[in-house]
Parts: sequence; structure tokens; C-alpha cells
Amino acid sequence: MKRINIAIDGHSSCGKGTLARHLAQQLGYVMIDSGAMYRAVTLAALRAGADITNEKEMEALLPGLQIGFQIHPDNGRSELLLNGVNEEKSIRTMEVAAAVSPVSKHSAVRRFLVDMQRQMGRDKGVVMDGRDIGTVVFPDAELKIFMTASPEIRAGRRFRELQQTGIVTTLDEVLENLNSRDQQDSSRADSPLRMAEDARLLDNSSLGIEEQAGIALTWAREAMEGNGIVR
Ligand code: DC
Repeated sequence: MKRINIAIDGHSSCGKGTLARHLAQQLGYVMIDSGAMYRAVTLAALRAGADITNEKEMEALLPGLQIGFQIHPDNGRSELLLNGVNEEKSIRTMEVAAAVSPVSKHSAVRRFLVDMQRQMGRDKGVVMDGRDIGTVVFPDAELKIFMTASPEIRAGRRFRELQQTGIVTTLDEVLENLNSRDQQDSSRADSPLRMAEDARLLDNSSLGIEEQAGIALTWAREAMEGNGIVR
């Protein structure tokens, strides 16, 4: 079966990363969390005290940033490296979550990260999740999935995740952040969040991960057989 790229896009906190991880494990592919890369740029900007609304200031930061991933030896999860330092925890704070949409609307930031993401997918065998993967990063991905779920369900899931990692917040704050990011991510001029015309829709409001992975694996296998009637 041929190696393919799988693009997973969708709203904030609807389990794109969890599905991407399952698919990558099952297929022996590499999983890439593109949102982590936007969060890394945001973290660097906040630490540098840059004005995140100023595109020129943001652009000036980019050449000094090295972004990569590292596999955690115990749980096999991919974790973000910024300039060689594991910043997986620091990029998940509410402070970064509040600043990441304004940062990711700058075209200079998007160009910088999209180039990197395309390099990562050059040899296929990648499952990448984000907002513009099927529309901009890999418009020729053999399988595109667009995920969504109701805002309340998404906020509940993200709230529990944050609690488990010891981040202090409230359900209301999380819900407000999700709604605000979705609104900003869908309305920006450059590469807004939208479903690619040839994407498959997966609403996981009432689906467990095993069911979602089962559906997505069936789609992936169809795409790998390359019979031309995938979508
Ligand atoms: O997937 P996430 O929630 O960690 O992403 C954080 C933010 O990064 C998201 O609100 C918008 C931005 N993002 C983007 O603009 N394009 C992507 N491909 C991925 C994320």
C-alpha cells in the first residue's frame, strides 16, 4: 500500500491530536501537531516581550527560532522543542492560549511555519493536525479529515486535560478561550480555518476514540489503496 499524508483540521480542542496520535501509531507514521509550532512562536514572543500585534516585530524573531519535536521515552508522545529545550508544558498555558490566535494571523509567521511543515511531509507518512493542513499545507493530501464537536463538549474535555497537567483555570475561561480562538481562526484573512472541499467530516460529539480511530483508519486504508474514489 502506498504511503500517504493525512491532514486533520478542525475547531479548537475537538480531539484532533488524539486522533492523529492513534492513526500515526496504527500506521507507523509520524504525527505532527502544527498548533504546537504556532504556540512555540507565541511563547518565544511573550518571553521576548514582543508586541504580538506588530507583524514586523514578529518577523524579526523568526530567524532565531529552531522548532522541532522529541518523542517522550515513557509514553511515546511527541513533545515540542524550542531552541533545543522541551517546552511542551510551557506552550499549553492559558497565557499562550490567549495570545496564539493574534500571533498566527500574521502571514510572515504562517509562511515560516508552513515551509517547515511542508519539509516534514515531503516523504509522506505524516499525520498532521491543525487548521489549514488540508487547505494550505498539504492541499494534495490523500486523506483530509475535518473534525468538530459541540463547544461545551470540547471545553469539558480541554478543562479536564488542563486540570490533569496541574494548570489552574475554570470551565468558563476555557469555553470562552475556545470560542474566541475559533472565531479569530475562522475569520483571519490568511489561511482561515475552513473545511477543504474534499475533506471528510467527523463530528465526534458522541464518539469515543476507538470509534473515531476505526472510522478514520477505514478512510486511510481506502486512500492508501489509491483507487481514486476516496472522497
Ligand atoms: O491546535 P491548537 O489549539 O494547539 O492550536 C493553537 C492555535 O494555533 C490555534 O488557535 C490557531 C493556530 N493554528 C493555526 O493557525 N494553524 C494551524 N495549522 C494550527 C494552529
